[in-house]
Amino acid sequence: MSEIFLGLGGDGERQVLRLGRANRHGLVAGATGTGKTVTLQTVAEQFSAAGVPVFLADVKGDLSGISMAGSPQFKNAAILEARAKELGLTDYAYSDNPAVFWDIYGEQGHPVRTTISEMGPLLLARLMDLNETQEGVLNIVFRFADEQGLLLLDLEDLQAMLTYTAEHAAELSTKYGNVTKASVGTIQRQLLALDSQGAAQFFGEPALEIADFIRCDDKGRGYINVLAADKLMRSPKLYATFLLWLLSELFEVLPEVGDPEKPKLVFFFDEAHLLFDDAPKALTDKVEQVVRLVRSKGVGVYFISQNPIDIPEAIAGQLGNRVQHALRAFTPRDKKAIKAAADTFRINPALDVETAITELKVGEALVSTLNDDGSPSIVQRTLIAPPRSRLGPIEPKERAIVQSISPFAGKYDTRVDRESAMEVLAAKAADAAATAQEVAQKGTEEVGKQERKSPGLWDGIGGRVAKAAAGAAAGSAGAILAQTIQGKKSRASPTASAASAAGGAIGDALGKAIGFPGLGRFARNLIGGLMR
Ligand SMILES: Nc1ncnc2c1ncn2[C@@H]1O[C@H](COP(=O)(O)OP(=O)(O)OP(=O)(O)O)[C@@H](O)[C@H]1O
Ligand SMILES: [Mg+2]
Repeated sequence: MSEIFLGLGGDGERQVLRLGRANRHGLVAGATGTGKTVTLQTVAEQFSAAGVPVFLADVKGDLSGISMAGSPQFKNAAILEARAKELGLTDYAYSDNPAVFWDIYGEQGHPVRTTISEMGPLLLARLMDLNETQEGVLNIVFRFADEQGLLLLDLEDLQAMLTYTAEHAAELSTKYGNVTKASVGTIQRQLLALDSQGAAQFFGEPALEIADFIRCDDKGRGYINVLAADKLMRSPKLYATFLLWLLSELFEVLPEVGDPEKPKLVFFFDEAHLLFDDAPKALTDKVEQVVRLVRSKGVGVYFISQNPIDIPEAIAGQLGNRVQHALRAFTPRDKKAIKAAADTFRINPALDVETAITELKVGEALVSTLNDDGSPSIVQRTLIAPPRSRLGPIEPKERAIVQSISPFAGKYDTRVDRESAMEVLAAKAADAAATAQEVAQKGTEEVGKQERKSPGLWDGIGGRVAKAAAGAAAGSAGAILAQTIQGKKSRASPTASAASAAGGAIGDALGKAIGFPGLGRFARNLIGGLMR
């Protein structure tokens, strides 16, 4: 098979999507209920059958049926069979597809994760909409962590690192360039916003191996990777960054292939307008760039959207294969969309495209795809072929069965929390508190002779002051710190930095212990010095 059957054109000709041109991206657009998702399902299952792995974001939860064969008993059966007859498909039969379910929140599929360091400061800065100065600070944080051998895996690590950076802004500035507390504070706030969108789930280990999205089953059919995106859609920034991260990873991992015989992987992003609605320009620019570059790696990206003008022009211009379902013509914006959609098609003298767009029936579309020579085919009014898998969502029971036979069962499901920046910084704090306690018991001189338990990140800075203060009232510090760290381990408050929480608690306790209520803050600064 070298092509995907889309449907029959008004001229009776077969309308196809050439596999050899399928990496030139595409667009499926149309008003609500006009047949976009069904078209996507038809196309995706044919890619799979042709041995092309597929990734698709299931926004409304109505795509999971792709994992099951359709059946004459299902409610949409009559519609599908009627369409098959209309198209004269004598070989129409129900069949299933190999599918794997994924879910960033781990509820409806294998969790998809990456680490903070794999995401990198650039993407994170874009995700958090940081300005240049703040991005510079974030870069310094990454560099410093790297030089200290501190792993940045999850949001907690980054929070702990930022707290540490704020506490040592002056020292870091001398070594790396200007680090202001204000910049760090902004990044911390943005990070909290990100966390409230549920991003904490996305960062950590085991991280996704991108090759796991590029697999075929033992019959040579491409796996269809279905990402549950209903919840994710409510966090458009996270959704956008996720897309971008995936595409960037693919770009990095895959070799250059030009225009392969068939794509290595095909992506479908339903409700694509959400990617761009609120996205900072820098993010949109980056999407545009990555979409352009990933093509020659053999990855096809298909955007699905209600309104074609929701896709930024620079990206829309790269979408060579187009299926335009009906659009409404109520508002001036509708009319603008119709005009824009019509203008992108290669003219068909026998077809008034602008009128046709408003008249198309459900499951009918204007289709133009790339010819072998790369030119767009003449636009044709096309009845879209019916999918062979089930339309609509599957039952939770069925989902569980699909997951149980997934090639990745057990690989990603349990989160692993190995020692990384947060733990190391918290351990240093605990170590410092223990030293303080020892000083209180044995005296400064005796302890000074001993070897340090963990090497200081900032040897020589703040040490003397800290020890002096600790000598004054270190009694309960160790105990409080231990509790705080344990509380942290229970993940009661995932993004609260252990180090600063501990510092604050100890500071306040020290203040109380000495009987100076105002000492909390003073002591906190000293504790900051202890946590070097
Ligand atoms: N190619 C087709 N053949 C037969 N029936 C179709 C076809 N496409 C769509 N339909 C019918 O139209 C219904 C709605 O289609 P679909 O869910 O694809 O719309 P949509 O454009 O994705 O809508 P929304 O924007 O709300 O997600 C389907 O449930 C099905 O009954
Ligand atoms: Mg839909």
